[in-house]
Amino acid sequence: MKKLVAVLLIMMMVFSLTACASEPEADALPTIGVTIYKYDDNFMSFVRRAIETAAVDKATLDMSDSQNSQATQNDQVDTMISKGAKALAINLVDPQAAETIISKAQAADLPVVFFNKEPEASVLASYDRAWYVGTASAEAGIIQGELVSEQWKANPDWDRNGDGVMSYVLMKGEPGHPDAEARTKFVIETIVANGIEVEELELQTGMWDTTKGKELMDAWISKHGDAIEMVIANNDGMALGAVQSLNAAGYFAADKFMPVVGVDAIPDVLEEIKAGRMIGTVLNDAKNQGSASFDLAYNVAMGKDPLEGTSWTFDDNKSVRVPYVGVTIDNIEFAEEAYK
Ligand code: BGC
Repeated sequence: MKKLVAVLLIMMMVFSLTACASEPEADALPTIGVTIYKYDDNFMSFVRRAIETAAVDKATLDMSDSQNSQATQNDQVDTMISKGAKALAINLVDPQAAETIISKAQAADLPVVFFNKEPEASVLASYDRAWYVGTASAEAGIIQGELVSEQWKANPDWDRNGDGVMSYVLMKGEPGHPDAEARTKFVIETIVANGIEVEELELQTGMWDTTKGKELMDAWISKHGDAIEMVIANNDGMALGAVQSLNAAGYFAADKFMPVVGVDAIPDVLEEIKAGRMIGTVLNDAKNQGSASFDLAYNVAMGKDPLEGTSWTFDDNKSVRVPYVGVTIDNIEFAEEAYK
């Protein structure tokens, strides 16, 4: 009998030891399901990196590239839920699809943090376990408008034909994206509010994309040539395309110049500002937006208050708004630090 008990005890010990050994440490970390609307968006690649950095030793990320397809993203969210994600962090493809994602999260009783593409306020309010991390979209337009106004006034020779009117072309981001709509509206309103007369030569979407930005600028240069006096882009990706096109057309050499301005302050653009090929940009703080998105998703995955241990606050719409900052050659080091 004694022998039998001893054997049983040994068997139990071996069993519990192997059970422990087969349990990898990562299992102890909560899984957070993350989607990025498309990996080849320049700005989003920095947000993505910030999320990955913030997650180290805290959570396992189940991250997917939605390849600019909402249908793909919906399937990815279903898979994340069935694989046991404890929270979702969603960069929507289509800002109008928040309702679909919320209904999936709600059915699985999961919290969801949207980031970068802002859902409509009423949709966010419809689920008490949904939040948003991003910016106040209009702010980028206002800051960009101030930056343009100030430099236009300081450089009278930019008014090439001397008619007292700023003839501009504007590259818009994705239509329907709250950032694209607000930046487009507020940059021009701000310039006009500063007493500058404007003429819109072109306004088209370049879908946030460098190649499309270059194509637009190529077409506009051949149509309007030197009649263009200012190039305003909703983001740096498209501004970089404009600079490539202008470069190829002989601008930025001898005394041929064209003022170009963007939004984001990505490292490639900071180089263009230093080289004198862009007059400025607006810092869209990828690092803080990425880490705040993760921190909120992590907190709610752990059943805590979304803002616990952070220095962020919510506005009336359960949204964290990371501030924008204007960037010119005068404060470029500050922007370089922000992207490190
Ligand atoms: C950024 C763009 C980016 C877009 C993606 C915006 O806030 O300024 O560069 O393409 O978000 O949704």
